Amino acid sequence: MLDSTDIETGVGQWPPTESIIPVDPSIESRIDGLLERLSLERKVGQLIQGEIQHTTPDDVFRFGLGSVLSGGGSFPGNKRHATHHDWRELAREFHRASMRTDEGRIPVPVFWGVDAVHGHNNVRGATVFPHNIGLGAANNMDLVAKIARCTASEMYATGVRCNFSPSVSVAHDFRWGRTYESYSTNPQHVGEYARTMVTGLQNNTDGLLFGEETVMATLKHFIGDGGTEGGMDRGETSLDEATLRDRHGLPYFSGIAAGAQLVMASFSSWNGEAVHGSHYLLTRVLKEQIGFDGIIISDWNGHSFVPGCSKVSCAPVFNAGVDIVMVPQDWHGLLENTISDVEAGLISMERIDDAVRRVLRVKFRAGLFEDEWPEQEIEVAAGNFGSAEHHAVAVQAVQESLVLLKNKNALLPVSSGQHVLVAGDAASNLEKQMGGWSLTWQGRDVSPGDFPHAKTILQGIKDRVEVAGGKVSYSADGEIDCEPDVAVVVFGEQPYAEWHGDRDTLEFEADAKSWGGKDLLHQRPALDMIRSFKSRSIPVISICLCGRPLFVNPEINASDAFVVAWQPGSAGEGVALPIFESPGENELIDFKGRLPFDWPDRPIPSETDGVSFPHGFGLSLGDNCDLDDLPEPAIAQTPGLRPLNIFTRGFSEPWSTMLEVNQNQHRVLPGAGVRSVGDREVIRIETGDRDIQEDSWLISWNGNGEASFLVGAGIALNLEMFRNAGASLCFDVLADDTGSSDIFVGMGSTQKPFAGFSLQEYVNQASNTWQAVQIPLSRFESAGVNLSSVLYPLVLRSDSASSLWVNSVRIALTS
Ligand code: BGC
Ligand code: BGC
Repeated sequence: MLDSTDIETGVGQWPPTESIIPVDPSIESRIDGLLERLSLERKVGQLIQGEIQHTTPDDVFRFGLGSVLSGGGSFPGNKRHATHHDWRELAREFHRASMRTDEGRIPVPVFWGVDAVHGHNNVRGATVFPHNIGLGAANNMDLVAKIARCTASEMYATGVRCNFSPSVSVAHDFRWGRTYESYSTNPQHVGEYARTMVTGLQNNTDGLLFGEETVMATLKHFIGDGGTEGGMDRGETSLDEATLRDRHGLPYFSGIAAGAQLVMASFSSWNGEAVHGSHYLLTRVLKEQIGFDGIIISDWNGHSFVPGCSKVSCAPVFNAGVDIVMVPQDWHGLLENTISDVEAGLISMERIDDAVRRVLRVKFRAGLFEDEWPEQEIEVAAGNFGSAEHHAVAVQAVQESLVLLKNKNALLPVSSGQHVLVAGDAASNLEKQMGGWSLTWQGRDVSPGDFPHAKTILQGIKDRVEVAGGKVSYSADGEIDCEPDVAVVVFGEQPYAEWHGDRDTLEFEADAKSWGGKDLLHQRPALDMIRSFKSRSIPVISICLCGRPLFVNPEINASDAFVVAWQPGSAGEGVALPIFESPGENELIDFKGRLPFDWPDRPIPSETDGVSFPHGFGLSLGDNCDLDDLPEPAIAQTPGLRPLNIFTRGFSEPWSTMLEVNQNQHRVLPGAGVRSVGDREVIRIETGDRDIQEDSWLISWNGNGEASFLVGAGIALNLEMFRNAGASLCFDVLADDTGSSDIFVGMGSTQKPFAGFSLQEYVNQASNTWQAVQIPLSRFESAGVNLSSVLYPLVLRSDSASSLWVNSVRIALTS
C-alpha cells in the first residue's frame, strides 16, 4: 500500500489533461439552480443505474433514476428479435417518464447505456464490425472514424445515447478473455484509437456540444484491466505507478483530451486494492490531477467487491469517486441505503453534489436537456440502420484487418477459374465469425436469423470465386470426393466474453486437452484437416478466426498460406477479397493488416519469450518471404500439472451441458436462461450468480420421471492418468430444503451411459451453505466407470423432486 508521502509524489506523475469540451459557465449556473431545487432522493436517483430487464419507465419516474443500461443479450421486452423501432419506442418511454412534470416533478432527462463495442451489436439487424483487435490490425484512422460514425448513427436510430465504448485496454497476457477488446499492445497507438473513436461517436470536433446522430463515449476500464497477472479477468495488476501510467494510463489522456464524457472503473485491482474502491486512482489521479470533469461509472455490480460493500449498500464506492453506480438488479436497495448513508453522514452532501453535478453537466453537454425528443432526426438515422452504406464500411474494415502471415510459393492471390474447396465449420458459422458481444453476451447461441444482413465467409468466397468463373465446394468436416485445385480451411475459437474467455494456454484446440504433459483428447480437427489435404498434394490456405494471438505453429507449418482474420463480424465477404483474384478489377486488392500484438511462439507466455511474428508483421501480396518451419514445442515443455477445468467461473471450450430425459439429450447453451426439458418439465436448469455472474447452475427435478444433467466435451476422454495421480472430481454444491438426498452422481462412458452412486455419500444435507465435494476418480471406477473412455465426467441424475446448485467443476489433485 502507498503511504501518504508516496501519494503526494505519485499524483504529480500524472499529466493534467485539457478536454476539447471546455467547462461552460452557463451550464454550470444552470446546474447550480438545479442542485438547489432537487431533493436528496432525486439527487441520489441520478447516481443509480438499473438494467432494463429490472427497471421500467415508471421506476424512472417514481424513483428519479438518472440512467438505465442494457447488458449484453438484453433486449426491450426481453425479445431477442426486437427491432430497432422497438428499441426506439422504449427509449422514448424512458425519456418521457424522466421528463414528466406532474406531481411537482422537476424534469431531468434519463439516458440509456449499452455496449455497442463493435457496432450496435445488441440489436438485430445492426451492422457488426470487426472486434477492436481487428481494427488494431487495420490501423487506418479514417476507417475507424467511419466506423464510429456508423455506430453512433445506428445507436441514435434506437434512441440510445450512451455507449460503454471504446475499451482502451492494453492487453498483455493474451490468455485474458477480453484481449479482442484491445486495439494494440502499444499504448500510444491505443491512444490514437481512443481519440478517433471518441471524436467519431460524440462528433464533438467543434469542441462544443454534440451534433446530431451522436452518443456519449465511455473509456474503459480504468485502469490496468489489461495488465492482470496471468491475464485473469477482474484480476490483480501489480505494477509500479510509472509503469501503470505509461502502459495503461496513456490511452485515457488522449481519450479525455478528445472529450470523452464517461470513464468506467475497472473490476481489476492495482497492487491489491480494487480500483472501484480507490480514492487515490479515481479521485486524486483521474479527477483532480488529470482533470477529468465527466462521469466515473462503476462496472456491473463492481461496487459489491469493494471491502465493506454489498450490492445494496456501498458508501465507499461513492467516497472513492464513482459518480454513477451500475447496479443492474438491486438498484432499489442501493438507492434507499445510499439515501440513508447520506443522512447518517457516511457520504457527504458535498460528494453527492459533485457527483450529481457531473451527471447533469454531461447531460447538458449532450443536449439531452435542450432536445424535444428528436423524433425527426431519429427517423432519419433509422433510414440508415443496417444500411448497405454501413455494410460497405464493414466490408472495408474486414478486408483491411486481415493479416497474411505466410504465402509459400506466392499461392495468394488464387487466380480465377479454379476449383476451390472450402473446409472447416468456421466457414459457415456466425458465432465464430462474430465473437462475443454479438446479440448475446457470450456470442453463443446465435443463428443467421439474428443477423439478417450478415454474410458468412463461405458465401463471400462463393460469390467472389464463381463470378470469376471458378467453382466452390464445401465440406465442414473436410471429407471430400473431388480433387480441388486449392483448399481453404477456416477454423477458429468459439466466441466468448469477459472471464468466460480466460484460458490456461494459448494453444489452439488445446483447452482441456493437455494435463500433466500428456495429450488427453487426441483431437485437433483443423490441423488434421490441413495435413490430410497436404498429404494429397492439395495446396492449403488457412483462415484463422481468433480473438487473440494463438499458438498455432503446427497449423502454420502445415499450411501454404495463413491468414489471420480475427473476429470479422457481419461482413464475412471481406475475407475473400485479397485471397482470390477477380479479373474485373483493375487494382489489386492487397493485404493491409499488420499484427497489433506479438504472435506467440509457445502455448504458455512468459516474459522472456521469443515470438513467432513480431508486432507490426504482415505480408503484402508479392512479398518474397520464405518462412522456415516454426518451432512446435511439445506440450510437455509447459510447466507443472494443471487441473482439468470443466466449469470454473464460466464455460470454456470444449465443454457443454446437456439435459437428458428418456435417452433424449438436449444441449443447453450458456446464457440460454432457464431451460426445462421433457413433456412435464422433468428437469430444469438455470444459471445464477455465486461470486460473479452466471458462475453456477441451479438444477431442479420435479419428480415426474428420471432425468439427468450431463457435462461433456463431445468426445471420449482418457482419465486414467488422473486416477493414477490420485486426482478427484471436485465441485461445489449448495443444497437447500428442496432436498438433494435422491440425487445420484456419476460419469458416462462410451460403454455405459451412467455409472454412479448416491451424492449423499459426499454431501451434508440442506446445509444452505456452499460445500466442496471431492470424489476420488477411483470411486467412480469401483462404481463401474471405464476411466479410459469417459464421455461425461459429471452426470447428476434423479427421479424425485430435488434441486442443487453446482459450481466450480474440475478434475484436480486434492491434498
Ligand atoms: C449479463 C450481461 C452483462 C454481463 C456483464 C451478464 O450476466 O447477462 O448482460 O453485460 O453480465 O458482466
Ligand atoms: C463489463 C463492461 C460492460 C458492462 C455492461 C461488464 O461486466 O465489464 O465492459 O460495459 O458489463 O454490460
